[in-house]
Amino acid sequence: MTATIIKGKEVAAELRADLKEEVAQLKEQGVVPGLTVILVGDNPASHSYVKAKAKACEEIGVASEVIKRDVNITQEELLQEIQQLNESEAVHGILVQLPLPNHIDEKAVLNAISPKKDVDGFHPVSVGNMVIGDECYLPCTPHGIIELIKRSGEEISGKHAVVIGRSNIVGKPVAMLLLQENATVTIAHSRTKDLSAMIKQADILVSAVGRPRLVKAEDLKPGAIVIDVGNTMENGKLVGDIDYEPAKEVAGYITPVPGGVGPMTITMLLKNTVDAAKTINNLK
Ligand code: GUN
Repeated sequence: MTATIIKGKEVAAELRADLKEEVAQLKEQGVVPGLTVILVGDNPASHSYVKAKAKACEEIGVASEVIKRDVNITQEELLQEIQQLNESEAVHGILVQLPLPNHIDEKAVLNAISPKKDVDGFHPVSVGNMVIGDECYLPCTPHGIIELIKRSGEEISGKHAVVIGRSNIVGKPVAMLLLQENATVTIAHSRTKDLSAMIKQADILVSAVGRPRLVKAEDLKPGAIVIDVGNTMENGKLVGDIDYEPAKEVAGYITPVPGGVGPMTITMLLKNTVDAAKTINNLK
């Protein structure tokens, strides 16, 4: 069996085209969705992620502003910036790029963002609402993963989903969203005793650990839906957690790296920003 490739890049392009139209309609009603990103310090990876976010905003007509601050900014100054953005009418989404310098308490910063503008979905109120299934901004990568699985046309309900990784950004929230979709969910992690045995039971496998080729084709259940969130740089190339070439001969569906989950993350950020603009302006 050769797997159907889940082309995240194509799905992302379709969603962005729809969002672009929605933004044009909002503009006719006098609303320009606005995203402000705060970037502290000079981490090159963070700079390149933020640049990609700003470019994506521009492409669909979302107004984006990047506030760049010196690595020595105090926590108090950063909290004041956030407070101003919480109060600004032109700003519908606020994102503080992580990681922050060590002298800043990341939790205090994330907690300062109004949940109404928390387009990253990292505020504890957003996380709590997600867990109980209430309306909130969903974290972008997990939301993108669910969208990709749904678009494969396969049911999630009743399937056994195994998530490898328990990070707050991907593993834990994607497990919660799969549960919300009525999957039976197992979370595996670095202390899991027999990972191979766990993988063999997965109708849906999501791997989000960043260990190249951790998941071997011989462990996959034939026909499984395999989602690779890994993106490790190896010899100048992005490599996923799944041993892709052999795995695609066993899986039913599989995401490539690059071009799978990656392009969905920024797309869901755009969607959250457009939704925030609508909600704040009572256009929903
Ligand atoms: N750093 C790496 N990924 C992310 C993300 O999704 N959001 C934020 N705020 N920072 C990040």
